[in-house]
Amino acid sequence: MSRPSRRPKLPAQKPPRRPLARPKLPPTPETPEHLCEADVAEGLERIAFSELRRRFGENVERLDRGEARPGALRFSYAGNLYHLLGLRMAQAVYLVRRFDVPRPKALLGHQHFTALLAMIAAVRDLSPAEAYQTLTLNAAGSDSSVMRRLKDELAAATGLKPADEGDLLIRLRHPPGDPSAWEVLVRLSPRPLATRSWRVCSREGALNAAIAGAMVFLTQPKPDDVFLNLLCGSGTLLIERLALENAASAAGYDLDETALACARRNIEAAGLADRVSLNLGDARALPLPDKSVDAICADLPFGHLVGSHEGNLELYPELLREAARLLKPGGRAVFISHEVRLMENLLADSPRWKIEQIIKVAQGGLNPRIFVLVRV
Ligand SMILES: C[S@@+](CC[C@H](N)C(=O)[O-])C[C@H]1O[C@@H](n2cnc3c(N)ncnc32)[C@H](O)[C@@H]1O
Repeated sequence: MSRPSRRPKLPAQKPPRRPLARPKLPPTPETPEHLCEADVAEGLERIAFSELRRRFGENVERLDRGEARPGALRFSYAGNLYHLLGLRMAQAVYLVRRFDVPRPKALLGHQHFTALLAMIAAVRDLSPAEAYQTLTLNAAGSDSSVMRRLKDELAAATGLKPADEGDLLIRLRHPPGDPSAWEVLVRLSPRPLATRSWRVCSREGALNAAIAGAMVFLTQPKPDDVFLNLLCGSGTLLIERLALENAASAAGYDLDETALACARRNIEAAGLADRVSLNLGDARALPLPDKSVDAICADLPFGHLVGSHEGNLELYPELLREAARLLKPGGRAVFISHEVRLMENLLADSPRWKIEQIIKVAQGGLNPRIFVLVRV
């Protein structure tokens, strides 16, 4: 695999303003083909691949059809690795290389070790030099003498200190379904992609940003949308919505002043302060006209860390009624909730909603569902 060209001079933090769809670019020596793998929240593999396809067209090809593993997406990518750092629905993305060796010890040989260092150099080239200080090698048997030696030699060659949660994450394992070889995965970023640089304030129950990215994607965002985030908490869905696509307006409502203050800090850090309105208000009765909103998202209280099941029995029907009042016909509401039976009961035979899909997703040891609803 040839070494990717240097990172182009793009602003590191700014979200893309252009549409996601891209024409196919012919592979050239400047756009080598890479083998990559993304960690995604289980249940969102297909949607995460749609994002890749929309951004990179036929320059990405899914490689694990038929043998897909939950939570993983394997693909080839013909392009500059730097552009993968802008993905919003992947938890983390790795550069992958297969080594046809029977045992990891062989990776210490000159040829393989040089190839490994070239992978690491390609990845470090994507971020500022100071972003990498430490290194972690993840492998079964990482306490064995061979793994310890490999880690020490990698540390010596890269100048990085071994650590439990290092900036440079290297995983070593057999290729899926092939115990005769080994493969090395190097994470493309010093932190998981879902750990957003805009998150300067967190709250218990804050939504995973990559799951929020998938939820706003499921609203089918358009640049002239009036977008509403009920129960906005720390602002995750608002930020992810505007990172994906412009909107005519984006407003968040929450009952809790401290949640709004937290959202304000995150939204400022994302550079979106002039594009989001944050409001103190009860999402069951908002001062907005009927049929005035194109898309609604909400991360509903699951009744564990946030809210209670008894409270949800009252809250959910009122929220659904208010969302139905505010949405234009054909508008989309995307909710995430762990109150699966309650939501299903409320939606069953509802004349207001058509259920487009219900997606079971893994988040923090739970399996909430993403409800994608269309206002009838
Ligand atoms: C699960 S949290 C949302 C977390 C948010 N998605 C985030 O990433 O930080 C639910 C939020 O709903 C708010 N909330 C609960 N009942 C509400 C109501 N009736 N109207 C407005 N906000 C409400 C709570 O204050 C809390 O911030």
